[in-house]
Amino acid sequence: MKRLAVFASGSGSNFEAIAEGCKSGVIAAEVALCVCDKAGAYVIQRAEKFGIPTLVFNPKDFGTKREFEKMIANRMDAENIDLVCLAGYMRIIGDELLERYGGKIINIHPALLPAFPGAHAIKDAFEYGVKVYGVTIHEVDATLDGGKIISQVAVPYEGDDIDELEAMIHRAEHKLYVETINKIIG
Ligand code: GRF
Repeated sequence: MKRLAVFASGSGSNFEAIAEGCKSGVIAAEVALCVCDKAGAYVIQRAEKFGIPTLVFNPKDFGTKREFEKMIANRMDAENIDLVCLAGYMRIIGDELLERYGGKIINIHPALLPAFPGAHAIKDAFEYGVKVYGVTIHEVDATLDGGKIISQVAVPYEGDDIDELEAMIHRAEHKLYVETINKIIG
Protein backbone atom coordinates (compact mmCIF):
# COMPACT_ATOMS: atom_id res chain seq x y z
CA MET A 1 0.00 0.00 0.00
CA LYS A 2 1.50 3.34 -1.09
CA ARG A 3 1.85 6.01 1.54
CA LEU A 4 0.88 9.61 0.80
CA ALA A 5 1.74 12.89 2.50
CA VAL A 6 -0.70 15.73 1.82
CA PHE A 7 0.48 19.32 2.37
CA ALA A 8 -2.14 22.02 3.00
CA SER A 9 -2.32 25.51 4.51
CA GLY A 10 -6.05 26.15 4.70
CA SER A 11 -9.46 24.56 4.48
CA GLY A 12 -8.31 21.22 3.15
CA SER A 13 -11.26 20.19 1.01
CA ASN A 14 -8.81 18.52 -1.39
CA PHE A 15 -7.13 16.84 1.57
CA GLU A 16 -10.55 15.50 2.58
CA ALA A 17 -11.30 14.21 -0.93
CA ILE A 18 -7.99 12.32 -0.97
CA ALA A 19 -8.42 11.00 2.59
CA GLU A 20 -11.97 9.87 1.80
CA GLY A 21 -10.79 8.21 -1.44
CA CYS A 22 -8.19 6.25 0.52
CA LYS A 23 -10.58 5.35 3.33
CA SER A 24 -13.25 4.08 0.97
CA GLY A 25 -10.75 2.11 -1.11
CA VAL A 26 -11.21 4.18 -4.29
CA ILE A 27 -7.50 5.04 -3.98
CA ALA A 28 -5.25 2.10 -3.14
CA ALA A 29 -3.13 4.15 -0.78
CA GLU A 30 -3.07 5.53 2.72
CA VAL A 31 -2.73 9.16 3.78
CA ALA A 32 0.09 8.66 6.26
CA LEU A 33 0.74 12.33 7.07
CA CYS A 34 -0.87 15.76 6.82
CA VAL A 35 1.70 18.57 6.72
CA CYS A 36 0.41 22.04 7.59
CA ASP A 37 2.27 25.33 7.96
CA LYS A 38 -0.58 27.19 9.72
CA ALA A 39 -1.72 26.49 13.26
CA GLY A 40 -5.50 26.56 13.41
CA ALA A 41 -6.07 25.74 9.73
CA TYR A 42 -9.28 23.77 9.22
CA VAL A 43 -7.39 20.97 7.46
CA ILE A 44 -5.98 19.95 10.86
CA GLN A 45 -9.49 19.20 12.16
CA ARG A 46 -10.26 17.24 9.02
CA ALA A 47 -7.08 15.16 9.50
CA GLU A 48 -8.00 14.46 13.11
CA LYS A 49 -11.44 13.30 12.02
CA PHE A 50 -9.78 10.69 9.81
CA GLY A 51 -7.21 9.78 12.48
CA ILE A 52 -4.39 10.93 10.20
CA PRO A 53 -1.21 12.17 11.93
CA THR A 54 -0.48 15.87 11.42
CA LEU A 55 2.82 17.70 11.26
CA VAL A 56 1.94 21.31 12.06
CA PHE A 57 4.77 23.83 12.12
CA ASN A 58 5.38 27.56 12.08
CA PRO A 59 7.96 28.53 9.45
CA LYS A 60 8.92 31.49 11.65
CA ASP A 61 10.34 29.07 14.22
CA PHE A 62 13.03 28.14 11.70
CA GLY A 63 15.90 30.24 10.39
CA THR A 64 15.52 29.21 6.76
CA LYS A 65 13.24 27.28 4.41
CA ARG A 66 15.94 24.61 4.16
CA GLU A 67 15.72 24.06 7.92
CA PHE A 68 11.97 23.50 8.07
CA GLU A 69 12.03 21.44 4.89
CA LYS A 70 14.74 19.25 6.48
CA MET A 71 12.42 18.65 9.42
CA ILE A 72 9.54 17.76 7.06
CA ALA A 73 11.70 15.49 4.87
CA ASN A 74 13.10 13.68 7.92
CA ARG A 75 9.56 12.98 9.12
CA MET A 76 8.52 11.82 5.65
CA ASP A 77 11.55 9.50 5.50
CA ALA A 78 10.48 8.04 8.85
CA GLU A 79 6.94 7.56 7.52
CA ASN A 80 8.14 5.94 4.26
CA ILE A 81 6.24 8.41 2.09
CA ASP A 82 5.93 7.40 -1.59
CA LEU A 83 4.09 10.44 -2.97
CA VAL A 84 3.65 14.04 -1.81
CA CYS A 85 0.39 15.75 -2.81
CA LEU A 86 0.28 19.52 -2.42
CA ALA A 87 -3.30 20.64 -1.82
CA GLY A 88 -3.47 24.35 -1.15
CA TYR A 89 0.00 24.51 0.40
CA MET A 90 0.74 28.19 -0.02
CA ARG A 91 4.53 27.98 -0.28
CA ILE A 92 7.00 27.35 -3.03
CA ILE A 93 8.78 24.05 -2.47
CA GLY A 94 12.48 24.67 -1.84
CA ASP A 95 15.74 22.92 -2.64
CA GLU A 96 15.80 20.56 0.34
CA LEU A 97 12.46 18.93 -0.52
CA LEU A 98 13.23 18.97 -4.25
CA GLU A 99 16.59 17.28 -3.65
CA ARG A 100 15.07 14.59 -1.44
CA TYR A 101 11.57 14.15 -2.88
CA GLY A 102 11.93 15.58 -6.41
CA GLY A 103 9.89 13.61 -8.96
CA LYS A 104 7.50 12.47 -6.20
CA ILE A 105 5.75 15.80 -5.56
CA ILE A 106 2.56 16.86 -7.34
CA ASN A 107 0.39 19.96 -7.02
CA ILE A 108 -3.17 20.89 -7.89
CA HIS A 109 -3.89 24.30 -9.39
CA PRO A 110 -7.38 25.76 -10.01
CA ALA A 111 -6.77 26.94 -13.59
CA LEU A 112 -5.72 25.59 -16.96
CA LEU A 113 -1.96 26.15 -16.72
CA PRO A 114 0.07 27.78 -18.12
CA ALA A 115 -2.76 30.34 -17.91
CA PHE A 116 -3.29 32.00 -14.53
CA PRO A 117 -0.47 30.70 -12.31
CA GLY A 118 -0.18 32.08 -8.76
CA ALA A 119 -2.30 32.33 -5.64
CA HIS A 120 -5.47 33.94 -7.06
CA ALA A 121 -6.05 31.88 -10.18
CA ILE A 122 -9.85 31.64 -10.01
CA LYS A 123 -10.31 35.38 -9.39
CA ASP A 124 -7.73 36.25 -12.06
CA ALA A 125 -9.44 34.07 -14.66
CA PHE A 126 -12.89 35.38 -13.67
CA GLU A 127 -11.78 38.98 -13.97
CA TYR A 128 -10.15 38.24 -17.30
CA GLY A 129 -13.51 36.97 -18.49
CA VAL A 130 -12.59 33.49 -19.66
CA LYS A 131 -15.41 31.13 -20.63
CA VAL A 132 -13.58 27.87 -19.99
CA TYR A 133 -11.96 27.49 -16.59
CA GLY A 134 -10.31 24.35 -15.31
CA VAL A 135 -7.96 22.44 -13.07
CA THR A 136 -4.38 21.25 -13.57
CA ILE A 137 -2.32 18.68 -11.71
CA HIS A 138 1.38 18.98 -12.37
CA GLU A 139 4.77 17.80 -11.19
CA VAL A 140 6.47 20.21 -8.83
CA ASP A 141 9.80 21.74 -9.68
CA ALA A 142 11.50 24.98 -8.67
CA THR A 143 9.15 27.14 -10.77
CA LEU A 144 5.82 28.58 -9.60
CA ASP A 145 3.08 26.29 -10.99
CA GLY A 146 5.44 25.47 -13.86
CA GLY A 147 6.27 21.74 -13.68
CA LYS A 148 5.27 19.14 -16.26
CA ILE A 149 1.49 18.79 -16.61
CA ILE A 150 0.08 15.41 -15.56
CA SER A 151 -3.67 15.95 -15.99
CA GLN A 152 -6.22 18.67 -16.68
CA VAL A 153 -9.97 19.07 -16.82
CA ALA A 154 -11.95 21.93 -18.31
CA VAL A 155 -14.79 23.65 -16.42
CA PRO A 156 -16.93 25.69 -18.82
CA TYR A 157 -18.74 28.55 -17.09
CA GLU A 158 -20.32 31.65 -18.55
CA GLY A 159 -22.16 32.93 -15.47
CA ASP A 160 -21.29 35.89 -13.29
CA ASP A 161 -21.31 34.33 -9.81
CA ILE A 162 -17.77 33.74 -8.61
CA ASP A 163 -18.95 31.69 -5.62
CA GLU A 164 -20.83 29.32 -7.89
CA LEU A 165 -17.76 29.13 -10.15
CA GLU A 166 -15.46 28.37 -7.20
CA ALA A 167 -17.75 25.57 -6.03
CA MET A 168 -17.73 24.06 -9.55
CA ILE A 169 -13.94 24.25 -9.75
CA HIS A 170 -13.50 22.68 -6.31
CA ARG A 171 -15.78 19.78 -7.26
CA ALA A 172 -13.71 19.26 -10.41
CA GLU A 173 -10.52 19.40 -8.32
CA HIS A 174 -11.64 16.73 -5.90
CA LYS A 175 -12.56 14.33 -8.70
CA LEU A 176 -9.41 14.97 -10.74
CA TYR A 177 -7.07 14.64 -7.75
CA VAL A 178 -8.48 11.24 -6.81
CA GLU A 179 -8.32 9.99 -10.44
CA THR A 180 -4.80 11.31 -10.95
CA ILE A 181 -3.36 9.84 -7.75
CA ASN A 182 -4.83 6.51 -8.78
CA LYS A 183 -3.14 6.72 -12.18
CA ILE A 184 0.20 7.65 -10.63
CA ILE A 185 0.27 4.92 -8.02
CA GLY A 186 -1.05 2.45 -10.63
C1 GRF B 1 -7.44 24.70 -4.26
O1 GRF B 1 -8.20 25.49 -5.14
C2 GRF B 1 -6.13 24.34 -4.89
O2 GRF B 1 -6.19 24.15 -6.26
C3 GRF B 1 -5.28 25.54 -4.57
O3 GRF B 1 -5.65 25.89 -3.26
C4 GRF B 1 -7.01 25.51 -3.04
C5 GRF B 1 -7.06 24.69 -1.77
O4 GRF B 1 -8.39 24.42 -1.37
N1 GRF B 1 -3.88 25.24 -4.75
P1 GRF B 1 -8.66 23.36 -0.21
O5 GRF B 1 -7.85 23.81 1.01
O6 GRF B 1 -8.23 22.01 -0.68
O7 GRF B 1 -10.12 23.43 0.07
